[in-house]
Amino acid sequence: MPAVVLVGAQWGDEGKGKATDLLGPKVDYVVKFNGGNNAGHTVVVGGQTYALHLLPSGILTPGVVPVIGNGVVVDLEVLFTELDELAARGVDTSKLVISSNAHVIPSYNRTMDKVTERFLGKRQIGTTGRGIGPTYADKMSRVGIRIQDLFDDGILRQKVQGALMQKNHLLVKVYNRRAVVVDQVVEELEGFADRLAPMVKDTAVLLNQALDQGKTVLLEGGQATMLDVDHGTYPFVTSSNATAGGACTGSGIGPTRIKSVVAVVKAYTTRVGAGPFVTELEGADGERLRDVGHEYGVTTGRPRRCGWFDALVARHTARINGVTDFALTKLDVLTGWDRIPVCVGYDVEGTVLEVLPTSQSDIHHARPVYEYLPGWYEDITKARSFAALPPNAQAYVLALEELAGARVSVVGVGPGRDAVIERHAII
Ligand code: IMP
Ligand code: MG
Repeated sequence: MPAVVLVGAQWGDEGKGKATDLLGPKVDYVVKFNGGNNAGHTVVVGGQTYALHLLPSGILTPGVVPVIGNGVVVDLEVLFTELDELAARGVDTSKLVISSNAHVIPSYNRTMDKVTERFLGKRQIGTTGRGIGPTYADKMSRVGIRIQDLFDDGILRQKVQGALMQKNHLLVKVYNRRAVVVDQVVEELEGFADRLAPMVKDTAVLLNQALDQGKTVLLEGGQATMLDVDHGTYPFVTSSNATAGGACTGSGIGPTRIKSVVAVVKAYTTRVGAGPFVTELEGADGERLRDVGHEYGVTTGRPRRCGWFDALVARHTARINGVTDFALTKLDVLTGWDRIPVCVGYDVEGTVLEVLPTSQSDIHHARPVYEYLPGWYEDITKARSFAALPPNAQAYVLALEELAGARVSVVGVGPGRDAVIERHAII
């Protein structure tokens, strides 16, 4: 069996956790390939709500091997806290495997994240403050600390020293902070080593062997396409590749082994943090979407910015990821509107564009061109087949499918695990 990629289609929080959970029984491995504890998945299992930040949501499915791939940045304190919390609730976490090549988020990078954001002032990105950006920057600058470094005291000390050489100058001279002490960092990181050791493997070998044996591997993207450092609304993005290409580099699985790419897309749009958002609603309509959809960040608790569905974003996502299937979520949140606007073009100073502009300024200046689709008032949360949806809800799904350019295979109609309509099998 093949590898399947699952990514977010918009700015995150599309409901990837639930989609992974739905696929869980058909999957042998779930791999997180990018990001760190900036993510937030809410998964409702057996009436219990779990909020995960770092661990792949596959950790909740019995029999699945959860994997943290080389593309991830790991805050070890958060890792062990999440593991302890799950264990306390009776979840078996013993199968977790972590790549020896994944990078560690040292505490000084959390400090760097916060001070650099403060210095950006009005140009702030609105990061989660978890040290994600600085840790990926260290990785690219080749002064990062990897999981494997924790098992060699001499190497670890050298690397921490190397990383702090520049950073301490910055912290003290530019940001007016105290210098970080090498010994303290080394001690802190080494404190995690014994517990970590049995979980660490060459995950590229592990996963490719699993594929050779006919196992199914689900590659789960953190964040989403529009937050991808290459293909998102740069610089208002996260610092990793959250798109399907990132699934390969972040796991060590080659592109020819991937059979399908599923993008999870909300029936409307949300975004946390700063950056352009063309269909954003600032008044009562936006508040209504936020209230009905419970749109508050799982990681930071921030109210999410809300707006209508954007077909230009969906098409961009289909293109960049080579999407084979969309999983449409939260359709029930749209119940109760006379008509539902869907953005089909961007008006940039009088010119209507149907492809996401490549110029950042054009995105900032664009005004949405809406098409209005008729709404529905019936409760759809109990529908379990496409035919059971009211005709206007069906028409809305079909219109989105047409606009986005790939089939909508799954439709979410409520928060529960079973509140889904499967139109086509994804795996
Ligand atoms: P960072 O990932 O903490 O560096 O934050 C960069 C941007 O990505 C900010 O706008 C965050 O709000 C956003 N972001 C990061 N992770 C997520 C996520 O899992 N869901 C939604 N937004 C996210
Ligand atoms: Mg989230």
